[in-house]
Amino acid sequence: MAEMAAVGYARENGARFVEELKDLLRIPSVSTDPEHAADVRRAAEFVADGLRGAGLEKVRLIEISVEAAEAAETQIPSRNDSKKSNSQKSNSKGKKARKGHPLVYGEWMGAGAGKPTILLYGHYDVQPAEPLDEWKNPPFEPEERNGNLYARGAVDDKGQMWIHVKALESLMKAEGALPVNVRVIVEGEEEVGGEGIAAFVREHGEQLKADCAIVSDTDMFAPDLPTLCVGLRGMIYTELEVRGAATDLHSGMYGGAAPNPFVAVAQIIAQLKRTDGRIAIPGFYDGIEEPTKAELEAWRSLPFDEEAYRAKQVGSPALTGERMFSVLERTWARPTMDVHGIEGGFTGVGAKTVIPAKATAKISFRLVPGMEPAIAFSQYKAFVEQIVPEGVTAEVRLIHSGDPFVVSTDNPFIGAATTALKEVFGKETVFVRGGGSIPIIGDLANVLGIPTVMMGFGLPDDNLHAPNEKFNLSNFHRGVESLVRFLTLAGEAR
Ligand code: BES
Ligand code: MN
Ligand code: MN
Repeated sequence: MAEMAAVGYARENGARFVEELKDLLRIPSVSTDPEHAADVRRAAEFVADGLRGAGLEKVRLIEISVEAAEAAETQIPSRNDSKKSNSQKSNSKGKKARKGHPLVYGEWMGAGAGKPTILLYGHYDVQPAEPLDEWKNPPFEPEERNGNLYARGAVDDKGQMWIHVKALESLMKAEGALPVNVRVIVEGEEEVGGEGIAAFVREHGEQLKADCAIVSDTDMFAPDLPTLCVGLRGMIYTELEVRGAATDLHSGMYGGAAPNPFVAVAQIIAQLKRTDGRIAIPGFYDGIEEPTKAELEAWRSLPFDEEAYRAKQVGSPALTGERMFSVLERTWARPTMDVHGIEGGFTGVGAKTVIPAKATAKISFRLVPGMEPAIAFSQYKAFVEQIVPEGVTAEVRLIHSGDPFVVSTDNPFIGAATTALKEVFGKETVFVRGGGSIPIIGDLANVLGIPTVMMGFGLPDDNLHAPNEKFNLSNFHRGVESLVRFLTLAGEAR
């Protein structure tokens, strides 16, 4: 493709784009923490201003309430069956109400009916930054080092979402119009399960009507290797609560006769997954769709060094899990269970001899195509009820869930994406899956019936959700250029 004015604009203004991104990264929009609700809203306003500045129209915040989400649940019971959360409270009608974090919307439909409409999705919320003492710079004071920008949200997903905003600005300012119609939807609850946007898509899907969605919230398989992600795992995120005695007890007076809920939690967790990595819940693997032979073959030819992955990315003495599957299969196409934290009892300095009355654990399962969150959750719940040790009671609650999916690659937008990436990176694109989850993407296919192009610019060592999260700035700039070219090529596709 000829040198484009918009690409020139992006190059001339690239340094400013990064300074703006730093301003966005200074806003601690941690969606899970109610104390940061005002910051989350400030981040939403910042994104809205960015869209206005890019020349988009009808830019607005869309307020989210969980009542709507619950109405949606009754229609599609495979998601978000959980009704109890401490951020929810009853309103006058007796329904639970929780004000969610707003969606940001903008559009430009000036290309006309002869051109496709592209839906650009991203999220402006971030994960908590803890543990803070492991950061080299404070997580919300972005710092450039060695061509990388370090901050919470740098790559997941503020930096990648900003790529979209700046690509739109570049096209609008340099060319006065966009090559396609666009709708932009940016959410503030992705990192907490995305129930609000799920309800919005189910109830007001027509407002997001498009021919294709594009998402930059995944990573490249290796540096300089252009990558499209064609599938993500789903998940159920749960909380296990075990109660024993009516109140905390002196462990000397009662130890030996009173049940210990932490021991019970450990026993339950130990029975969920066998030592060979297989989940022990009956029926859990029923119906799983395996990757095709061609897909497995393609994965085998990806540049992957298991030993380097162990040493450099994981950093543990050994890798674990189902040895009969490759690491890529284990992380992309097999379900798994992880424990995120166990809470309760005494964790202070020194010693306290107590038998706590209760213990809770945050436990999630990643799901793969062929599995349904609602079924997986009920199998898990039934299994826990069956194995709960004597002397304690156990309750399992679903906090959030999302469907697993693979996207169709049989559409012209995938072709536009690979051509765009080749123009920028000079290489053929590899197709991979991701082990993470983006709950709304399954709904884009199931509810809106549109394909999604997952064109991510993160790197495997970008420390997502961890201390020292970073975004490679060259990938940021190449990302803007890739989006400009993708939108231009999509204007010719249909
Ligand atoms: N961007 C990630 C998902 C991701 C990361 C996909 C890397 C593929 C490669 C997203 O922000 C994320 O972290 N999602 C959560 C989902 C959850 C909290 C519902 C996840 O996967 O844990
Ligand atoms: Mn993300
Ligand atoms: Mn994330």
